Amino acid sequence: MGFPKNFLWGGATAANQCEGGYNEGGRGLANVDLMPLGKDRYRVGTGEIRMFDFDENYFYPAQKSIDMYHKYKEDIALFAQMGFKTYRMSIAWTRIFPNGDEEKPNEEGLAFYEDMFKECKKYDIEPLVTINHFDCPMYLIKKYGGWKNRKMIDFYVKFAKALFSKYKGLVKYWLTFNEINMILHFPFVAAGLYFEKGENKKQVMITAVHHELIASALVTKIAHEIDPNNKIGCMMAAGSYYPETCKPEDYWKSICDNRESYMFIDVQSWGYYPNYALKWVEKQGAVIPFENGDKEILLNNTVDFISFSYYSSRVSSENPEKAKQTESNIFASVINPYLKASDWGWQIDPLGLRITMNELYDRYKKPLFIVENGLGAADKIENNGKIIDDYRIEYLKEHIQAMKDAIDEDGVDVMGYTSWGCIDLISNGTGEMKKRYGFIYVDRDNEGNGTLKRIPKKSFYWYKRVIATNGENLSLEGLDLYE
Ligand code: BG6
Repeated sequence: MGFPKNFLWGGATAANQCEGGYNEGGRGLANVDLMPLGKDRYRVGTGEIRMFDFDENYFYPAQKSIDMYHKYKEDIALFAQMGFKTYRMSIAWTRIFPNGDEEKPNEEGLAFYEDMFKECKKYDIEPLVTINHFDCPMYLIKKYGGWKNRKMIDFYVKFAKALFSKYKGLVKYWLTFNEINMILHFPFVAAGLYFEKGENKKQVMITAVHHELIASALVTKIAHEIDPNNKIGCMMAAGSYYPETCKPEDYWKSICDNRESYMFIDVQSWGYYPNYALKWVEKQGAVIPFENGDKEILLNNTVDFISFSYYSSRVSSENPEKAKQTESNIFASVINPYLKASDWGWQIDPLGLRITMNELYDRYKKPLFIVENGLGAADKIENNGKIIDDYRIEYLKEHIQAMKDAIDEDGVDVMGYTSWGCIDLISNGTGEMKKRYGFIYVDRDNEGNGTLKRIPKKSFYWYKRVIATNGENLSLEGLDLYE
């Protein structure tokens, strides 16, 4: 009983939130570089404000981030000290294809990640690679309109093919798109989308979704052809919706809200759009831009495993006035009075993780991989230089326990767990550095000041022991040594 012997413990990051070096190594400009800190960030992310070039009135935290581009050896060594079995990271598309439509990949970009993977292998850390974590070359956005254009499929396929060929033998776990359901909520970030006046936004988003789903299926096929050892996963921003009350209308609303996320994963896992999804598209006054052969592509190339992020559960109400009380990780939800919340208002629900895992496993019957989970909190350095983040340990401990219950009590098949932002990085939602998730503190503030020094927090030593005991010891006992 307990966690399987080969359970993949580790941590997760995304290129745009940690690498920096935005104009080094021949890298091109991407949408994620243009996400400013401050109040306009959200509206740039939704495509309401068009930000196609840097504007001197804004600060862009991704330009430097935590400078992992130059510090990855030090960072991977720290992950190894914690005993990571896996490290989830993403590839910046514009390091490999700076504009996105070049014939040949940028060798310097390919070499950079090759080196990173080799560094991981040195410590027996298995890379888990997100091919696309929110980034899209700006050139493709300006010239083709991002994922609303079907040509994006070819550019993405070429990009993925370059990765599978170059890293054969070095990488075997791949995720096609990070949080594919985020397209409906943060479309410029998730798919390089912006909207023309009077345009049916839902149609634009549904078109982009269909293109990503076809692209995902095509690269699943290619990955398997290039190396039959490759395992490909989809990735969903998860967190089940509960009904606000037992009023049937509230329950029905929660089913509909859950389906707005499931429908993407249904296609990637089952190979077809279920009837409710087809009806939903119709109700949006939209159509899915099917072309000849699309249905076969989807049906014949389903994913090997289901990965997801989980930070919180959500709550649905049939009363539209209540529908938007909180925006936990971009998704609107009613506040759940039974739960506490983080300082950023994200509600904390470990049992919700077990519920979500059970729902996903019942639905898909494929192995699950929890590739993001964690607590964003402001940390304080004590006078003795230590960071005592018991609140983070508490959050992770309860969630890992819930995951253990899902495995032990419910028989859910889980491949691994990578906590989000294992080293402090830039927040996707707010652009802040202050919202920290890491086991490793990085000396940098919201405005970009700081030495970038890395300091292990108390949670670093806690997680190290969790991994060493394969999840058997989750307690804080004995860790006061580090205080
Ligand atoms: C997920 C994303 O939505 O949540 C990450 O995949 C993101 O990129 C994470 O960082 C946490 O959100 P935030 O807004 O706290 O950074």
